[in-house]
Amino acid sequence: MSILTVNNMNVRFRTQDGLVQAVSDLSFSIKPGETLGIVGESGSGKSQSVFALMGLTADNGIVSGDALFHGKNLLEMSKKELNRIRAEKIGMIFQDPMNSLNPFMKIGKQLTEVLRKHKGLSSREATAQSIQMLDAVRIPSAQTRMTQYPHELSGGMRQRVMIAMALLCKPELIIADEPTTALDVTVQAQILTLLRDLQTEFNTAILLITHDMGVVAEMCDRVLVMYGGRRMEQASINSLFESPSHPYTQGLLTAIPSIHDDIDRLKTIAGNPPSALIDAQGCPFYERCSSAKELCKNEMPKFLSVNDQQSLACHSYSAVTPVVSKPILTEEIA
Ligand SMILES: Nc1ncnc2c1ncn2[C@@H]1O[C@H](COP(=O)(O)OP(=O)(O)OP(=O)(O)O)[C@@H](O)[C@H]1O
Ligand SMILES: [Mg+2]
Repeated sequence: MSILTVNNMNVRFRTQDGLVQAVSDLSFSIKPGETLGIVGESGSGKSQSVFALMGLTADNGIVSGDALFHGKNLLEMSKKELNRIRAEKIGMIFQDPMNSLNPFMKIGKQLTEVLRKHKGLSSREATAQSIQMLDAVRIPSAQTRMTQYPHELSGGMRQRVMIAMALLCKPELIIADEPTTALDVTVQAQILTLLRDLQTEFNTAILLITHDMGVVAEMCDRVLVMYGGRRMEQASINSLFESPSHPYTQGLLTAIPSIHDDIDRLKTIAGNPPSALIDAQGCPFYERCSSAKELCKNEMPKFLSVNDQQSLACHSYSAVTPVVSKPILTEEIA
């Protein structure tokens, strides 16, 4: 049973140049205890997808579709209702901790206020639980940290505080948008381990946005590959690495630098990301795709299941996959 089911979500922005389609017809679901990765290059709509779920879309944005969290549509909730869910049931971790920490408030107060307001704890209980959570995210001298302001902490420590804050109310779902990109490799590894430990303990679902395929391999059960605001492929972690089927996914995987690569010569997928202005009829990857044909220019391929592990949107699927016995494509049931 899914904890979150997103159906046909669109995020558009009114701009001076016209309507920008940041997210198109996005559908996915996530179960308790599961980690779903969202990958794709810059501008592919990853952040806007989760911002829309949390009611954080900018004022010029228009969101449609539905996103059922325990059967209730997040996209239609009042601000008040959403705020409550955000504090109690869905924790968000952003790339930049300063986005969610108040620079003018001591760490301790920021943590205890959440518990007092949403769990009705006394000041003493809230302090005890906050210190406990700072310990859990491996912050040394937690008691002292409680009396400090965010700027007094290192970047890694601030990130941990934000994670502690996101986990304080033991959310059922954590949405993490590039949670470790700004951190050095050692801290990154510690934080990922921590997220996994907490997931095991609380059966938390994690929606993890990253462009790091190493992080994907380590953390995710399933992966959604986005390009130009659309789903290109969705696959279990094994299928993704063993038989990536969409040309874009294949490009993403070969773009991973190996340790033998010269750092100045990182491989990238040739060509530029698509313009997000609304007009495109066809596949957004058309211009960069080595398997593209005329049909791809004019018609967005349907998102189809290859098997119960893998689905993709590609007209040339059978041409790009080393098919032994040709799988029968069936229309995916959402
Ligand atoms: N307020 C806005 N007005 C107009 N366009 C916007 C607005 N906010 C975001 N966009 C556009 O939405 C698209 C998707 O952006 P998004 O931030 O979701 O990308 P992303 O996949 O998270 O990229 P990154 O990996 O760089 O974080 C981009 O083309 C972006 O320019
Ligand atoms: Mg982003």
